[in-house]
Amino acid sequence: MKAGLFFLTILYFSTLNSQERKIDIIPIPVSVTISFGSFRLTNSTSVGYNNTEASKSALLFAKAIKNPTGFIYEPVSSNNASIQFSLNNLPDPQIGSEGYTLKVELNRIIISANSDAGLYYGLQTLLQLFPKEIENKTLVNTIWEIPCVQITDFPRFPWRGIMLDVSRHFFTKEEIMTYIDQISKYKFNTFHWHLTDDNGWRIEIKALPKLTQVGAWRVERFGRFGSRADPKPGESATDGGFYTQEEIKDIIAFADQRHVTIVPEIDVPGHSMAALAAYPDLSCTKDTSIKVNPGTKFSEWYDDGTFKMLLDNTLNPSDEKVYEFLDKIFTEVSLLFPNQYIHVGGDECYKGYWKNDIGCQKLMKKLKLREVEQLQGYFMGRVNEILKQKGKKLLGWEEILEGGISQDATVMGWRGTKGGIKGAKNGYNVVMTPSTFAYLDYFQGEKSIEPPVYEGLRTIKVYNFEPVPEGIDSKYILGGQGNLWTEQIANFRQVQYMTYPRAWALSEKFWSPKDKSSWDEFTNRMEVHFLRADLAEINHSNAVYDPIIKVRKEKGQLSVLIEKEISDINIYYTIDDSMPDSFSPEYIDSLALPDGPITLRMISYRNNKPIGHLITLKRNELEKRAK
Ligand code: ACM
Repeated sequence: MKAGLFFLTILYFSTLNSQERKIDIIPIPVSVTISFGSFRLTNSTSVGYNNTEASKSALLFAKAIKNPTGFIYEPVSSNNASIQFSLNNLPDPQIGSEGYTLKVELNRIIISANSDAGLYYGLQTLLQLFPKEIENKTLVNTIWEIPCVQITDFPRFPWRGIMLDVSRHFFTKEEIMTYIDQISKYKFNTFHWHLTDDNGWRIEIKALPKLTQVGAWRVERFGRFGSRADPKPGESATDGGFYTQEEIKDIIAFADQRHVTIVPEIDVPGHSMAALAAYPDLSCTKDTSIKVNPGTKFSEWYDDGTFKMLLDNTLNPSDEKVYEFLDKIFTEVSLLFPNQYIHVGGDECYKGYWKNDIGCQKLMKKLKLREVEQLQGYFMGRVNEILKQKGKKLLGWEEILEGGISQDATVMGWRGTKGGIKGAKNGYNVVMTPSTFAYLDYFQGEKSIEPPVYEGLRTIKVYNFEPVPEGIDSKYILGGQGNLWTEQIANFRQVQYMTYPRAWALSEKFWSPKDKSSWDEFTNRMEVHFLRADLAEINHSNAVYDPIIKVRKEKGQLSVLIEKEISDINIYYTIDDSMPDSFSPEYIDSLALPDGPITLRMISYRNNKPIGHLITLKRNELEKRAK
């Protein structure tokens, strides 16, 4: 009798097919052991927590599954609920402060952690074990079953960040909350909020009201950033927005519930045109015609990496009023944001206006400085003093190293990996955010069809990012971050498009063990997450399906060489001005193009269905690429 029941139970719990038993967690956990059987969610499942802290994740679980399943759970204080969230009484040293263990048994799920954050990450993993329909916004009629599994998981790095620039384009409080919620599901714990720049000041500072009355608004312009028309005399500045301090407090509380620390950035002494539109006296030129910039061309960049600002966007380091101004700002910023770091920018500061300024020349003499560049070191030193008085730690872009900065500063390396390496070699704590692997503003697929930006960065390259550079002691590397600059990003759907799937690739680099890294295996999980994101109404790019098209010219003949990010797709092409489909010639290993005014059209298919975008390259474009 007993044996019969046991047999029946096994049959009942074996309904998942092998595809459904595959688990597709991003970032991939440290250890996963799948076992026989599965757990099935029903309306009689109980959800429990062993103390008040643990109740937060239990409540978030009940909330997350309510709409798609229709099950309404009231989590209870318990030690043996069917889904149990438990903080360890004795810390488990293996999983540290953010790790968790997750056991899914036939009749029970137990998530344990040393901290509330660990339970939150365990919860995200649990949700990812459910069928993708768990992401649906409304009721779905399905069996809510997940495979029995035992997971032990903890992060590789303590700093797992995403930066969003809200100056070049403004995003609402609700959009910021949605973004933070979504990145936290991939176990990012840091949201770097680029709040000020030349194109808009976005944080209310009560002592300096003009920063937002004037600095948050620019004239409305459309089209490519960096080539737009100047403000006309008397034209109203109607485009923009800012966050009140009350809104910021709400966002901080929201992020805190999701274990995301917000690092605010006030970018000085360069990138300050919006502040100077409000307070022009704070620059060397005191140019009252400076307006919040709507995306005009105001800088020139040269091949040797140097640049010139055609409009003055820098604070005057020799003016004491600048430090009084910064003191007011950092007083309010320090009181608002509970975390220890404040990012003070420091990047791309043009010194040309300083060089010509009498006050700066006098200050250089007094400080016995030979190069105007050294004034940035002086300026950053003063900012560091201000932050220290307020109990905060200075974080800045790698340029803070150039003028000299005290050893307690933290460096964000961004111009490739060089700055981060230099910081770590000099004993600074470093966050690695190299443009070459982690700049999410770069286009991610075929250049001719992606929205235009000056550089490209494919997901496969992001996945090749190794945050600890060779020869560098990992103790200096706090972790890494993806940066999303928004010059070319005017709406929130596009923010998501640029973020995913590349942020998923980054999440794995920052959380998962290095030896688990496998692009081919990651892409299988990534494709499952495409389907989940679709149901969650989160936008993402599909550019991984588009061919990487390289062109060569040999003895006057053009030939095309294709690489793929995803191996199991077929690429069809035409050169006869017909639309390609799966009956067109298939690209196999190389393609010699005949002479003449041909156009190459290409599209990817999988299982006889189109999966990529139509790419159309005329001969002159092919010729250009061959160079
Ligand atoms: C930067 O990209 N200017 C830090």
